[in-house]
Amino acid sequence: MRIDIITVLPDMVESALNHSIIKRARERSLVDIRVIDLRNFTEDRHRTTDDTPYGGGGGMVMKIEPIDRAIKHLRAESNTSPRIVLTDPRGKQFDQRTARQWAAEQHLILLCGHYEGVDERVRTQLVTDEVSIGDYVLTGGELPALVVTDALTRLQPGALGDEEAPAKDSFAEDLLEYPHYTRPAEYQGASVPEMLLCGHHAKIQEWRRWHQLHSTRSRRPDLFAKFELTARDRKLIDSEEPKAPQDKPPTSTE
Ligand code: ADE
Repeated sequence: MRIDIITVLPDMVESALNHSIIKRARERSLVDIRVIDLRNFTEDRHRTTDDTPYGGGGGMVMKIEPIDRAIKHLRAESNTSPRIVLTDPRGKQFDQRTARQWAAEQHLILLCGHYEGVDERVRTQLVTDEVSIGDYVLTGGELPALVVTDALTRLQPGALGDEEAPAKDSFAEDLLEYPHYTRPAEYQGASVPEMLLCGHHAKIQEWRRWHQLHSTRSRRPDLFAKFELTARDRKLIDSEEPKAPQDKPPTSTE
């Protein structure tokens, strides 16, 4: 997948993309992320990307011409008709469902909004989607664009190593995570649940699913309402928390 990020702060965006899983995914060409400096598409001496608003008032407005030139350039270069996404607090709230949908696309252009906003014609003539990452106002669209890029990158096949692969199960991601523990087995009197030490793989899976279902239902009833329970889930959620069996684990892998 190719993701183009159009921004007036290319260094900020680029530096955030050079760590950990995203860095590795880029190095392995699992995702082609390009950071595009909007100023490269200006034509004046001062490389102007914003101007004062018609009608007066404070703040600056992002100009349409450099944005239009940048988008035209990227479209021609890639020979695709990508979705063009503007980051804006008025946009549709970004969620995992949208992440899955966009992650399956060939090419996406993210346009980082700034200042008081963009010229309304960018919205009406150029972009296909407007996305918000939450009900709060940030100083610019760079962090939202990075949030979207991160969520799409980790969904690219092979982006998460084998260890992280179970977390990639799209079905499991519509629920909240189950509790995780690592060594030590006891810390200041707080022990790791016996189930996780018992070695019964199938039982552990059941325990984790039980916690995912319960935690989602109590913490995020909105997510839970949208989640389609399997027959097994329905049985599991009405049962008590699964307890560790007292016998030895099976020797064969389950
Ligand atoms: N720009 C400023 N705040 C934003 C937000 N919450 N989501 C997307 N873009 C933004």
